Amino acid sequence: MSKLIINAGNKKSRINKEIYGHFSEHLGRCIYEGLYVGENSKIPNKNGMRTDVVNALKEMKLPMLRWPGGCFADEYHWRDGIGPKETRKKMINTHWGGVLEDNSFGTHEFLELCDQIGCQPYINGNLGSGTVQEMSEWIEYMTFDGVSPMADLRAKNGRKEPWKIKFFGVGNENWGCGGNMTPEYYANEYRRYQTYCRNYGDNRLFKIACGPNEGNYEWCDTVMRMASPYMDALSLHYYTIEKNWEDKGSATVFDEKGWYITLKKALHMEELVTRHSKIMDKYDPDKRVALAVDEWGCWFNVEPGTNPGFLYQQNTMRDALVAGINLNIFNKHSDRVRIANIAQLINVLQSVILTEGDKMLLTPTYHVFNMYKCHQDATLVDSYIDTEEVGPEEAKVPNLSESASVDPDGRLHITLNNLSVSQSYNINSILVDRKVNGVKAEILTNKMDAYNTFENPDKVHTEEFTEFKLTEGGLDFVIPPCSIIHFEID
Ligand code: AHR
Repeated sequence: MSKLIINAGNKKSRINKEIYGHFSEHLGRCIYEGLYVGENSKIPNKNGMRTDVVNALKEMKLPMLRWPGGCFADEYHWRDGIGPKETRKKMINTHWGGVLEDNSFGTHEFLELCDQIGCQPYINGNLGSGTVQEMSEWIEYMTFDGVSPMADLRAKNGRKEPWKIKFFGVGNENWGCGGNMTPEYYANEYRRYQTYCRNYGDNRLFKIACGPNEGNYEWCDTVMRMASPYMDALSLHYYTIEKNWEDKGSATVFDEKGWYITLKKALHMEELVTRHSKIMDKYDPDKRVALAVDEWGCWFNVEPGTNPGFLYQQNTMRDALVAGINLNIFNKHSDRVRIANIAQLINVLQSVILTEGDKMLLTPTYHVFNMYKCHQDATLVDSYIDTEEVGPEEAKVPNLSESASVDPDGRLHITLNNLSVSQSYNINSILVDRKVNGVKAEILTNKMDAYNTFENPDKVHTEEFTEFKLTEGGLDFVIPPCSIIHFEID
């Protein structure tokens, strides 16, 4: 019997809803086809945005969406994406498949999409190939309230009222696709660019600096040392790859070893977040600067027969567990991790939605986000679970992962993952400082490589979980292999 202890009276940090953020880049079929089909499409839409997709994202309570990249952000010139669509400049999307980008989805369209979903926009500016003036004027264009050259241009393009923009990224992966910079060079550039990212009226920007790739602790240290007073957050990017960058492994065809290796790599997020936070503590002991894990998730080989530049991959129960593990880690580090964006929203990498023409399906990862939405803006509480190691010698992982929170209405939420492919576990949970008036639970479970297809879109789905017994101190239950459970306790 494994013990799960929830100390509900020991309240910790607030779990910012933006930890449940997503990312949409001009890449493959994420924006075009996935989110935006244009006003004249036969696919039901409102001002070009797919109605089925918008409704599913509202249901999942998508809190925040990053755009326009990614690598694309540092090649994006916002003026190309405003004004009459017929006259918008076309460009080649050199990063992603070399396809023609007609810029029919630009600033107005993105902010309309966020309005329809009811989420906060996170705009990523171009530091790699854009000018300081260009970045500064984009902010003026979006947020200036009154008469100014950019506000006038915005009004001419049909939008008199300014938008409210909070989250603003100053460059993306500037150690790589965003300019191949050294940390010293980037830190100086960051200081310069951000100076001209102005707060107009009562709009307040939350400036996000480009942080390290994976375990590049030197980048973290240098940028924090040189620029931390000028930023609100530092980003971190880490992808879970089963094999290596040349052959990342298949999203759907893998054995038990591939399962455990992938989960072990996902668990590496714990070390990254802990060590980067420790460096940040040196320069920012009060944790004013957030760690924004604004790209994370599984990256596998593209589905056979699809454009290699489009990064289209299927999504199995393995992805679901990777999502559950990461979200539990972020919850537990929510004192420092206050933003996270899984890559990417639709049809690209670890997506929550896949589309094919007018068809849409929800992936196992969608169901995890839907189960975990209970933690958004809740307060983390102390939790502990007994674990043992499972998996082959080269990829041993703890069998269980958990996190718990109390929401603003006082309900206790526990999200629990069983990482074992074959073993179920008896759990004896003890709820300290907590009366139980009622319990509701849901479960996501299936074979390790199960996934939804357009022919069978509901193969992997959540179900009500009733196999638990109330005890004097809490509840007892058996968690099946390869599963995720959410308990809601009144
Ligand atoms: O998400 C795909 C790409 O991965 C992004 O464009 C880039 O920032 C990262 O390398």
